[in-house]
Amino acid sequence: MHENFSLKPYNTFGVEAKAKYFVEVHSIEELKDALKFSNMNTLPLLFLGGGSNILFTKDFDGLAIKLSLKGIAVQVLNKNEFLVTAKAGENWHEFVLFCLNKNLGGLENLSLIPGNVGTSPMQNIGAYGTEIKDIFVDCKVLNLETLEIETFDVKKCRFGYRDSIFKQEGKGKYVILEVSFRLTIQNHNIKTEYGAIKSELENLGIENPTIQDVSKAVINIRQSKLPDPKVTGNAGSFFKNPTIPLTQFEELKQKFENIQGYPNGEFVKVPAGWLIEQCGWKGKQIGNVASHQLQSLVIINATGNATGQEIFDFSTEIINSVKEKFSIELEREVNII
Ligand code: EPU
Repeated sequence: MHENFSLKPYNTFGVEAKAKYFVEVHSIEELKDALKFSNMNTLPLLFLGGGSNILFTKDFDGLAIKLSLKGIAVQVLNKNEFLVTAKAGENWHEFVLFCLNKNLGGLENLSLIPGNVGTSPMQNIGAYGTEIKDIFVDCKVLNLETLEIETFDVKKCRFGYRDSIFKQEGKGKYVILEVSFRLTIQNHNIKTEYGAIKSELENLGIENPTIQDVSKAVINIRQSKLPDPKVTGNAGSFFKNPTIPLTQFEELKQKFENIQGYPNGEFVKVPAGWLIEQCGWKGKQIGNVASHQLQSLVIINATGNATGQEIFDFSTEIINSVKEKFSIELEREVNII
């Protein structure tokens, strides 16, 4: 147990914030010991995974628990599919590479997403036409009230766009311990329709891509436009892509003929990056904070010296200007502490 512990290395924005207490746990027993300590001292709890979707705007006056449970198990389901189970503390991209090395398909479009396996169900991570709900089987969680281990299947997780029960009514009630995925060993479902994957495969001179090729293409695309958190502090997309009624979209289209949208029934999902860019934010810097010059949906700690509050204030300015210009209220995707 550490006291007054700096969380700077534990958040990919790289902002300074102190936890009153901090402990890293490697097993369920260590986790339960930490929970006992927080109970005895009535301390609020904060669980840290990869720290890639969190913004600290102030110190945390409680116990921060870094989840470092490790291990991957592979089990044959049938001649086409394997069940792969990874503990919460496994790094997401290393887990994807582990599966690709074994020629297990299903995760390739999710290559290079920052963070850990344990937080992947919380916001149903997604990229390039795949969301984890597509290959998710279940996850084991520790119920913080009963200290019993429970299993949540796809239905119970109530996955939505960057959403799950763990961000809604289950918030603060469970700790995800491990996650299982159903992956293919042959007849892979190769998805190249989304975004720039096809043109990137063409650039690479690949006609019949393998899952490893798709992963390579995704890695190239991400590296070409998303900042590496090891170099420049960021938490990926800062906002969700907003969903607006079709009628509102059509009105906006009259005024802004280039507005893009992905229709979904009576609603349209609009790329927040486009809205933010139209408001003049792309590449713009105020003090230590900027909107990334290649993808305005990503807010960066441009100088490395930004405070969480500065980043938060910057995001508020973006929200205000998008609201003023388009009457659309952007929602933050990153967890604010
Ligand atoms: N766009 C702009 N200006 C910008 C950024 C984007 O006009 O500054 C336009 C692009 O031209 C494109 C559209 O917006 O037509 C969508 O952009 P992109 O394909 O880059 O995807 P996104 O909607 O901005 C989402 C996810 C990303 C994920 C990509 C790829 C969300 C909030 N973000 O971004 O996820 O990598 O799709 O699938 O859904 C993350 O969650 O941290 C993340 C990076």
